[in-house]
Amino acid sequence: MNFSLTEEHLMIQEAARDFAQTALLPGVIERDHKQEFPDELVKKMGALGFMGIMVDPKYGGSGMDAISYVIVMEELSKIDASASVIVSVNNSLVCYGLEAFGNEAQKQKYLTKLATGEFVGAFCLSEPEAGSDATSQATTAEDKGDHYVINGTKNWITSGGRADVYLVIAQTDRAKGHRGINAFIVEKGTAGFHIGPKEDKLGIRGSDTHTLQFNDVIVPKENRIGADGFGFKFAMKTLSGGRIGIAAQALGIATGAYELSLKYSKERKAFGTEICNHQAIAFKLADMYTDISAARMMVMKAAWDKDQGNNYDMSSAMAKLYASKVAMEHTVEAVQIHGGNGFVKDYHVERLMRDAKITQIYEGTSEIQKIVISRGVLKG
Ligand code: CAA
Repeated sequence: MNFSLTEEHLMIQEAARDFAQTALLPGVIERDHKQEFPDELVKKMGALGFMGIMVDPKYGGSGMDAISYVIVMEELSKIDASASVIVSVNNSLVCYGLEAFGNEAQKQKYLTKLATGEFVGAFCLSEPEAGSDATSQATTAEDKGDHYVINGTKNWITSGGRADVYLVIAQTDRAKGHRGINAFIVEKGTAGFHIGPKEDKLGIRGSDTHTLQFNDVIVPKENRIGADGFGFKFAMKTLSGGRIGIAAQALGIATGAYELSLKYSKERKAFGTEICNHQAIAFKLADMYTDISAARMMVMKAAWDKDQGNNYDMSSAMAKLYASKVAMEHTVEAVQIHGGNGFVKDYHVERLMRDAKITQIYEGTSEIQKIVISRGVLKG
């Protein structure tokens, strides 16, 4: 067993760390405050190859492995989880979904632009009445021979107002249950496709989250992904990889909070010494470091499973469940270590605490991860 990163991994880590420090950090507090989508930064991340990290270079991607992807996600998320969720959805839901299950024409038309950051992608599964219960899709896609007509509402869609390409899951034949669901590529600006209100969120406020409305949206048949009825499995398979990205995001948020806390505890004095010299603080740092190290191993294991071609449904669910718990618990501790300063925006930890919460909710709540894990455990 080898726990070392390769030369290539260390290089991408350095590039992502440098970008996060020099480009993401300067405006992160303002973007959070104004709920500002980082358009220019997304373009720059595209130029660095971060928008299509695992995509084959023949489709414009960086051709790297899933370990590289989680390394980039961790580094970006240490500084700006709003930017990193845009990267995560684009990479592991939209680009992966198209590369693994799309046909050649779809890859040429859409993947080549998504992988370079020229286009931004969104993944539209959740609905007002179908969040966790994803088979209960109310959005319909009526088969009209050479095209489908989509009607319905999608909720909480990351990059919803800014994307160019939307992967939309909808019910074609309700009698067939999950086997009657399909996935479609819908382009921005298609007639009847309306971008609804932007959500005013607790965290990841720099990412652009919207409700979307589909009113008699005509989608050509060639925009269906995979065979008829493949949409639910498409969503599940894609989300398994997505969960690796969100686990890495949670890991980054926790690590960012830990690093700020360590630095602060070596500078701040109380009772005649730096606060890190008090066991009350030192033990918190020890717990943080231990739990974050464990989370990192789980995130890496899930990415390694993907790279090896192993099934990663369980390892991705476990990594997300654990890393998001660590992120939530230890960002709260980071605020505590910072005391009054932790409660004001300049010190960054209150934002990391707010950002941590969504990692326990999106791409499947912690309870959904437990469903996936327990089913795997019981199957043996
Ligand atoms: N890979 C392949 N197939 C899978 C699969 C997987 N990982 N998981 C399930 N399936 C298949 C099953 O084998 C089954 O097929 P068969 O009947 O042919 O055997 C079919 O899918 C239905 O599976 P289940 O019976 O297990 O379905 P269920 O209704 O019990 O639901 C669930 C399972 C795990 C709870 C699922 O509904 C789920 O994951 N829900 C959460 C949805 C979610 O994560 N939403 C996030 C939205 S996206 C987002 O957040 C993006 C963003 O913007 C950040």
